[in-house]
Amino acid sequence: KGLMIIDTDAGVDDADAILMALSYPDVKVVGITTVSGNILVKQVIVNVLRVLKVANRMDIPVYHGCEEPLLGVRKTNGIHYHGTDGLGDMPDPSTVDREHLKEEHAVQALLRMSRQFEGELTLVCLGPLTNIAVALRIDPHFGTRLKNCFIMGGNHQGRGNVTVSAEFNFNYDPEAAFVVLSQLHAPITIVTWELSTSHSLPKDVYNKLRSKKTKKADFLKRIEAHSLEFNKQNNDDTFNVCDAIAVAAAIDNSIITMATRVYATVEVKGQYTSGQMLVDWNGHFKKEHNVTLITSIDDSKLLQMLYKTEED
Ligand code: BDR
Ligand code: CA
Repeated sequence: KGLMIIDTDAGVDDADAILMALSYPDVKVVGITTVSGNILVKQVIVNVLRVLKVANRMDIPVYHGCEEPLLGVRKTNGIHYHGTDGLGDMPDPSTVDREHLKEEHAVQALLRMSRQFEGELTLVCLGPLTNIAVALRIDPHFGTRLKNCFIMGGNHQGRGNVTVSAEFNFNYDPEAAFVVLSQLHAPITIVTWELSTSHSLPKDVYNKLRSKKTKKADFLKRIEAHSLEFNKQNNDDTFNVCDAIAVAAAIDNSIITMATRVYATVEVKGQYTSGQMLVDWNGHFKKEHNVTLITSIDDSKLLQMLYKTEED
């Protein structure tokens, strides 16, 4: 079995991504670490527990992670898109039992598991990279014990979603993204904002996907309604499954149809560009390639995986 740890700021699309990881019997999710991003970490924990409850997987340990980005400056949050509770403000009559939350801090859990499962662990990052950067500051060898790391974040065509040129996860904590890209020293694969948007689900495909009569499809459809409405107001008739693409690529890399090795770093100072990922296409910095950029994926495979995610 492939061992996976998911670091998340759940988040509507994070929920789908987590459910996807849980729907593959060959994948063992050994823990979920949480971080502030779309919403503050306290609520992220509640959201993750809700998702685990839908999947009937309350056995998976959940860890409380960093509450603030490295510099303690919160630029924005995701509530316009993800709702004030981070999961689409869908009424939830069920109660989640916070006793499932482990006492150990997310960063300590990441470090411990990297030792416990040395060379076997796939880390999938679906939120700002604060926990990972802090783990590296405690132990610079953290990344060398990982099998690999898949990150949803950044951009490779200079097109942003929260600023003119930056993607949300990297913009929320640019310094953490900088640290991770330059110092993780694990095989890193990146799903950028532009990659995700170019594989957004058209409305008819989305509607068909969510018409399945399963508990999970119903849950996802309800939490996603708010984001769909947000998109509609912004003349976007598609649904972006960005975080699920990162999990999909980690589970089955045959979904990747095009990828390229590059040196990439993150702007931490720019007046307009803070948090933008810079790709050194022309070898200007004369640095070794540090990441694999996915530039295209197989849409039909992605859709198959999204269907599988919904199965009860
Ligand atoms: C990323 O930011 C969050 O809003 C999403 O969950 C995704 O991880 C996209 O920019
Ligand atoms: Ca996310």
